[in-house]
Amino acid sequence: MDYQVPGLGVFMEKTFVMLKPDAIKKGLAGEVISRLEKAHLKIVGMKMVQLTDEICREHYAHHVNKPFFQGLVKFMCSSPIICMVIEGENAVEKVRELAGPTDSKKASKGTIRGDFGTDVQANIIHASDSRETAEVEIGRFFKKDEIFHY
Ligand code: RTP
Ligand code: MG
Repeated sequence: MDYQVPGLGVFMEKTFVMLKPDAIKKGLAGEVISRLEKAHLKIVGMKMVQLTDEICREHYAHHVNKPFFQGLVKFMCSSPIICMVIEGENAVEKVRELAGPTDSKKASKGTIRGDFGTDVQANIIHASDSRETAEVEIGRFFKKDEIFHY
């Protein structure tokens, strides 16, 4: 949803997206970005980042005590990732729909994970799960002047 900030005008909804190491290593960055663009979503921030154990602990705080956490960190740090701030109407929900469910094996064809993912871990894309999470995740990876208005 668009929202109005008094005195500052209308802002479009934003979400945070990562192209995970499997997307980068398989050369699928362009394909995934193209799907976002075709869905009328706009890239307003983008950078390549090498994740560390420390950032993974923060970003995946909800999984720190899970048995798969160490494997997840190893996977997420196995190559640089591409981080993006994506803007558009209902951006959070729209990107989650385009991504499909977490487990690539259960994701329908036509979704990013269903078409390109391998399993529950190597699932190509991260997308924020709510507007609140999006705000925190965008702030974790982007400075204010790295997000563009155009
Ligand atoms: P994401 O945060 O990456 O967009 O994925 P999600 O919301 O669909 O799923 P979430 O529960 O937040 O999990 C984050 C990522 O952790 C890995 N995972 N592995 N081995 C497992 O059972 C397992 N469960 C989750 C996946 O890479 C998942 O995307
Ligand atoms: Mg999640």
